[in-house]
Amino acid sequence: MNLLVTAGATREPIDPVRYLTNRSSGKMGYALALAGQQLGHRVTLISGPTSLDIPSLVDFIPVETAKEMLEAVKLNIGAQDAAIFSAAVADYRPSFISDRKIKKTTDSLTLELVRNPDILGSARHQFKYDGILVGFAAETENLETNARTKLRQKECDLVVANDISKKGIGFDSDHNEVLLVYPEHTRPIPTESKERLAYTILRAVDDLRVEGG
Ligand code: CTP
Repeated sequence: MNLLVTAGATREPIDPVRYLTNRSSGKMGYALALAGQQLGHRVTLISGPTSLDIPSLVDFIPVETAKEMLEAVKLNIGAQDAAIFSAAVADYRPSFISDRKIKKTTDSLTLELVRNPDILGSARHQFKYDGILVGFAAETENLETNARTKLRQKECDLVVANDISKKGIGFDSDHNEVLLVYPEHTRPIPTESKERLAYTILRAVDDLRVEGG
């Protein structure tokens, strides 16, 4: 199948030397892209900047900002059988990007932020994508309820939910413990490496494709 994966954190510039980002390492998305390639799928990996090696034999599209990621998804999603959105997209970006380095001339500085586009949310609603759609939810409370709300709002087939308040899993870690949240049920997956979890998620995607005919 054709598989699209978004990965990594986006980077939202403030001025020529500064940006806003988050702690996502990109490991989960890269593990998904690699596992997909090893299972014989044609993988398109759209990624924000990370320190990871680019998996060979995948179509790799590097991006920096959420707006660039949205454009890359828009151009590529039509050809996909499944799309997994694991990127940690910055929800906000500075409303103004200074073309000169901001100098420290005042005691305080206020940055105004504006909402970024919701890329996963655009898949069904704007891009009219009708393949298998998988989102991620990183939560510190009410994990299953919040994940289910995302599943419904963004019309996903599956949301992979992880509790980022737990130490040693999730963001920046090599392991993760997740809930696979489906419209009608939830399947807890015990802690495993992101490499193994990637195969678990891809098996779940395959099952959804079989169920969907
Ligand atoms: N996502 C996206 N584009 C965004 C934000 C998130 O594609 N601008 C995707 C992520 O890749 C992930 C899922 O949406 O698959 C996360 O959902 P989201 O509701 O954005 O999570 P939070 O930012 O944690 O949401 P909230 O602050 O509403 O809890």
